[in-house]
Amino acid sequence: MKKIPVIMDCDPGHDDAIALVLALSSEKLKVLGVTSCSGNQTIEKTTYNARRILELLGKREVPVARGRSCPLLNDGRTAAGAHGETGLDGPVLPEPVAPLREETAVEFMAKLLEESEEKVTLVPTGPLTNIGTLILSYPHLLPKIERICMMGGSVVSGCSDKGASEFNILVDAYAADIVFTSGIPITMMGLDVTNFSTIGYGEEKEAFRNSGHVGKFVAELVDFFGRLFQMIGWPGAPIHDACAVAWLIKPEIFESRDLHVEIDLNGENTYASTVADFHGLSGKAPNATVCLKSDQKQFVELLLDACKSYEREGAVR
Ligand code: RIB
Ligand code: CA
Repeated sequence: MKKIPVIMDCDPGHDDAIALVLALSSEKLKVLGVTSCSGNQTIEKTTYNARRILELLGKREVPVARGRSCPLLNDGRTAAGAHGETGLDGPVLPEPVAPLREETAVEFMAKLLEESEEKVTLVPTGPLTNIGTLILSYPHLLPKIERICMMGGSVVSGCSDKGASEFNILVDAYAADIVFTSGIPITMMGLDVTNFSTIGYGEEKEAFRNSGHVGKFVAELVDFFGRLFQMIGWPGAPIHDACAVAWLIKPEIFESRDLHVEIDLNGENTYASTVADFHGLSGKAPNATVCLKSDQKQFVELLLDACKSYEREGAVR
């Protein structure tokens, strides 16, 4: 089976970690590399977390490169309330052994794009700072990008403290604008679908815990990351970032529409929102496949099978 070459650009982050678990287990994907971005925590912490996750999964061969330390134009922000001071509070992780790449994340992504014989799919699950920088810095490489399959935004339900915006877009709205005006095909996994792509707190979570080392890791991620959602009566812990990977592996579990989406860079209460033209009134062609619904049971099944595959592989440390 021909594998889809991907680069994971992430800010682990509990749900980023689960996205990595899924991506690195799939027979449909070839993860060329992992690049870190600042978002859920500082770049130092997200980079360290990415390396620790790969060590835990027995994937030392997958290279990691460190991303930009702050958004393009505005001050950064972190999400310690959701992900803790380490950015990955809860589970105990091993120390990384594999060295960090010397190149920056953007240099490394460019290198991978140049060297790949096939077009590469970028899978950003944090703020789009690195991706926006790549687009600005290496315009000649854009034809080597197959698609940007991202977690971010929301076309129906905002979430973050700016009301209408979502965290990944809010952290670096200017980078998001570069991405959405780049002409590169985009799959957008916004909160509209990711908030309901959850792992439940009871049997579903325990099925992970009892499925082996990696499943136990995922359950412990949900123990911590899900606690706030459980307090507000949410049906489960939303595994936002894993949706961007799941779409590449099993797109049929999602419902989507091709829409024109713009980033609001000027609104007082709508700054960093992802504004979708549902009725074609803008006269602008769609620039994104926007996912709006998922089959939650099939989503959880995909994640659980991924965890079990590591036991079969026997690679877990
Ligand atoms: O809004 C959800 C997004 O913000 C996810 O990527 C999560 O990891 C945080 O980065
Ligand atoms: Ca993330």
